[in-house]
This record gives sequence, C-alpha cells and structure tokens, in this order.
Amino acid sequence: MTVAKLKVAVLISGRGSNLQALIDACAAAEFPAEIVLVVSNVADAQGLARAQAASLPTAIVDHRNYTSREHFDEAVDKTLRQAGAEFICLAGFMRIFSDAFVRKWEGRVINIHPSLLPAFKGTHVHEQAIAAGVKVSGCTVHYVIPALDSGPIIAQEKVPVLADDTPETLAARVLEAEHKTYPMALKWIAERNVRFEQGRAVFSNDDS
Ligand code: GRF
Repeated sequence: MTVAKLKVAVLISGRGSNLQALIDACAAAEFPAEIVLVVSNVADAQGLARAQAASLPTAIVDHRNYTSREHFDEAVDKTLRQAGAEFICLAGFMRIFSDAFVRKWEGRVINIHPSLLPAFKGTHVHEQAIAAGVKVSGCTVHYVIPALDSGPIIAQEKVPVLADDTPETLAARVLEAEHKTYPMALKWIAERNVRFEQGRAVFSNDDS
C-alpha cells in the first residue's frame, strides 16, 4: 500500500540553503514528505531560483502590500490552502506570524533556528554565542508557537565553537548541521514519530 506523502509548504525570505536541503531530501522516492509550494515574502529571494530549478510551484506574498500583519497572514494562509499544503516549514522566513495564524496552524508549523535553544533567540545568534563564550552551539528544529523561538523542541544538533571563530565561520559550521537536522526532523513528523500535543513535542518512543 502506498502511504500518502505529507504535503509541505516551505516559507523563505532569502538564500534558501535549508530549502535546498529539504528539496534534496524530498527527491528520494521513499521520503515521506513532498514540497507542494515554496512561498517567499521577498520577490528576489535566492531560494526562489532553487525552487524553480527543482520545478516546484512558487508564490510571492510581499508583506509590503498589506496594511497589517493580520492581512498578510490571511494572504499567506489562503495561498497555502489553495496549494493543498498540510504542513509548513519555515526556512529563513523573516516575518513573525500573528497569534491567530499560529493558532490556526498549531502543531503544523516548524522552524529551524541556528542555536541550541533556549539559548540565543532572535537575530545575531552567532554574535550572541561568541560573546557569551560558549564552547558548544548548534541548531534547533522546533514547533512554532506565538512566543518567538520558544516552541517545543523536535531535534537539535551541536557543533563546537572554536577559539578563533567569527560569526561567519560559526554560522557556516552550524549551517552544515542545519542541513542534516531539518530533513531528519521533517521525516520524523511525516512518519508520525513525533507530534504536537498540548504544547509539547511527543515522540512515539515516549509512549511506553
Ligand atoms: C538559517 O541559519 C536558519 O537557521 C535561520 O535562517 C537561516 C536561513 O538560511 N532561521 P537559508 O536561507 O536556509 O540558507
């Protein structure tokens, strides 16, 4: 019996290297998710070219065309539903959704963040890590809740912070980890090995 693949929309604002990692993972016949749409709020985002190269449908929803966050979110929501998306992966998407949007998609939106959350939320993450003098950093895939970079954690991978690291060298090392961790987390979700339940990430092997 063929099991239907999870229909995923990937939302981007820029480079799209995590999008590329997801595209590459989804190219495998046995991968349990497929990308049905790539949405960008930035018309010339580099990631859109990656989507087009992979023959994926794209949509641009430019936040500057909307008078409020809620109106922008409604436009994104409509675009996603029209494409039949069941699940959202945020991949360098630089907009914050309204609580209403997050509630509507509760348990069906994940994000990747370039630190070991709850450390170093927000922006300038690698600068924060170096300034704090941590010896280990990494990346986190988490469910999205209304509070920024605070949702239940699905997967993390650590990388060393070296004495001579700059934000750029650390970012490059973390990014390599991101490209492995994001497809892995999406696979777990699509296979129902992890689910969002009452504000927590519940893993199948936690049930025993
Ligand atoms: C990544 O570091 C991701 O963790 C953060 O934004 C960056 C996006 O990079 N949320 P890319 O567009 O996927 O290359």
